[in-house]
Amino acid sequence: MTKQIHLAAHFPGVNNTTVWSDPASGSQIDFASFRKLAETAERGTFDFFFLAEGLRLREVKGRIHDLDVVGRPESLTVLSALAAVTTHLGLAATVNSTFNEPYELAKRLATLDHVSGGRAAWNVVTSWDAFTGENFRRGGYLDKSDRYVRAQESLRIVRKLWDSWTGDDLVLDQASGSFAREGAGAFADAGPHFDIRGRFGLPPSPQGRPVIIQAGDSDEGREFAAAGADVIFSRHGTFAAGQTFYKDVKSRLAKYGRSDESLKIMPAVTVVVADTDAEAIEKAAYIREQQVSGPTALVLAELLWGRDLSAYDPDGPLPAEDPVVGSSVTQGRVGYNDPFPIVAEWRAQAEANGWSLRQTVINQQNRQTFVGSPTTVAEAVNRHVQENAADGFVLVPHLTPGGLDDFVDRVIPLLREYGVFRSEYSGTTLRDHLGLSR
Ligand SMILES: Cc1cc2nc3c(=O)[nH]c(=O)nc-3n(C[C@H](O)[C@H](O)[C@H](O)COP(=O)(O)O)c2cc1C
Repeated sequence: MTKQIHLAAHFPGVNNTTVWSDPASGSQIDFASFRKLAETAERGTFDFFFLAEGLRLREVKGRIHDLDVVGRPESLTVLSALAAVTTHLGLAATVNSTFNEPYELAKRLATLDHVSGGRAAWNVVTSWDAFTGENFRRGGYLDKSDRYVRAQESLRIVRKLWDSWTGDDLVLDQASGSFAREGAGAFADAGPHFDIRGRFGLPPSPQGRPVIIQAGDSDEGREFAAAGADVIFSRHGTFAAGQTFYKDVKSRLAKYGRSDESLKIMPAVTVVVADTDAEAIEKAAYIREQQVSGPTALVLAELLWGRDLSAYDPDGPLPAEDPVVGSSVTQGRVGYNDPFPIVAEWRAQAEANGWSLRQTVINQQNRQTFVGSPTTVAEAVNRHVQENAADGFVLVPHLTPGGLDDFVDRVIPLLREYGVFRSEYSGTTLRDHLGLSR
C-alpha cells in the first residue's frame, strides 16, 4: 500500500544548520518570522510546525556561544499566538520533563489545544544536566539514569490530568446555575518523583490528549517512545540509518500492544532544491561553507577533542593532541562518550583527501539530506517513506523565515501528483493529520 508522507516545519534555532548571519536571514525573534514560516507550512498543508527548546544558553570555555542563535522566545507563547493566525497547522512545543511539574505541563498544553482547536503537541525532552539545572529552583538535582523515570511519571500524570474530566462533567446549565459536576477534574497520583492530588482546572481539550512527540536516542529513550509517544523526532535522516532506526523502534511496539501505524517516525532533515541536480549540489556546497565558518569548525572540533583549540588555524591541519574524555569545554551540548575512534576517522579522512580541519568538519558532519532538482528531491523523499526509512520528515531550513519556500512551491506539488501527500487538510486536529486515534 502506498504510504502517505507526514511533514513538519522546524523553525531554525541553535546548531549550525541555521545561518543567521546570511543577509537573506530575517529575525529569529520577531513574531513576523514565526508567522511567515508557519504560513508557508500551512500553504504546503504540512502536519505541524515545530519549535525546539534550550533552557540555558550554550557556553564555550565559559563564554556564551553566539555563533548559533542566542535568545529565543518561549515556545508555548509563540505557538499560542500562531494558533490565531493559522487554521489547520499542528503546533508542536518542545518542553522539558525534568524541570517542569506535570500539573503545569498538562495545563499549558491543554490550553494550547483549546486555543488552537485541537492542534497541540508536546515534544517531551529530558535534558537533565547540572549546567542547565543551575537555572532552576532545585538545580542540577537529577541523575542521568532517572531522566526517563521522571519523564514516564510526568507523562503518565499529564495524561491522567487530561483524562480527569469525563464527557458530561461540564454541565453549563445556566438555568440551574450549575457549571460543572461535583468531582470534575479530581486526581491523585504518587510515584518516585511526584505525590500530588487535587483537581485539574481545565475541561477536556479538543484532542483530549494532545499529540506526544519524543526526541531522545538512547535505548531508554526509544523504549519511552515505544510505550507512549505518537511521533518520534529522530536524527537518523539518511536512508540506511533511517531504516535501521525505523525497524528498531517499530519492533518495540508489539509488547505495548501497539500497531506500527500508531507511532510515526519523522527524522530531522535539510533540503536544497535548484533547477538542476548540478546547481543544487553547488548551492549545497555554498551553504555548507556558510554553516561551518572557521570559528564554528574550531568549536565543533573542541566539542570532539574536549580541549581548547583556539591556537589552531581552522584552515590548517587537524590537532595533533589526543582527545580528553568528559571535559566541559563546551557546555549545553551533547558531547562524545568515546571520541577516540571519531578522531581517528577524521584524521584518516583528512590525510586521504588532503583536507584542512574546516574541510574535515564540513565533510564529516554533512547535514544535507536531500539535494537536487525538485524531481530528484521529491523522488528521494518518497522513497525514504515507501521503503520504511521514515514515515515523514521534520524539515529544518537553513534560513529564517524563507527557507522552506522552494520545497513548498516546487517539491510539494510533485508529492501531490504522486498521490503521497495531501492537497488539502481532511480533518481539523493534528491527530487527524497524523492519522492517529486518541
Ligand atoms: C532530534 C533530537 C532533537 C532534540 N531536541 C531537543 C531540544 O530541542 N531541547 C532539548 O532540551 N533537548 C533536545 N533533544 C535532547 C533529548 O531530549 C536528549 O537526547 C535527552 O535529553 C537525553 O535522552 P537520550 O539519552 O535518550 O538521548 C533532542 C534530541 C534529539 C535526538
